[in-house]
Amino acid sequence: MTTRRSFLIASATAAGACAAGALSGCGAGLTAPRLKNDVVLTLTEFPALATEGRTVTVSPSRSGYAVAIYVRNEGGGLYSALGGYCDHEGCEVGPSATGFQCPCHGARFAIDGALLSGPATDDMPAFQTTFDGETVTVLANG
Ligand code: FES
Repeated sequence: MTTRRSFLIASATAAGACAAGALSGCGAGLTAPRLKNDVVLTLTEFPALATEGRTVTVSPSRSGYAVAIYVRNEGGGLYSALGGYCDHEGCEVGPSATGFQCPCHGARFAIDGALLSGPATDDMPAFQTTFDGETVTVLANG
């Protein structure tokens, strides 16, 4: 028989375990895949990258990554690169009117990849980039 006291103890124990990340099914997300090799994008091949605010989608066949990578000109010679990966169940996140959205269960992300609403539990994976004036390189992370 479940009493109020045993229910409260069980709930507190489960909450503590979830906070420590010890259980699956507590809202903990999947681990994002790693980018194995640098991805080199020239402005000649991807002219949209020369314009501040524009984003180029790099396909998995081009990058070797599990899902699309979104590379955006942030201005001032800086570029961001986000993996279109949703840590809820691993679906590929796509662009939306205000940022990104997962087509599977509706998780939403800001243009910088920050999680806005679940069921995903983490931001989109971000990669470091370099730019030498002609070439954007998305750096491997694993
Ligand atoms: S897999 Fe993205 S919200 Fe479920």
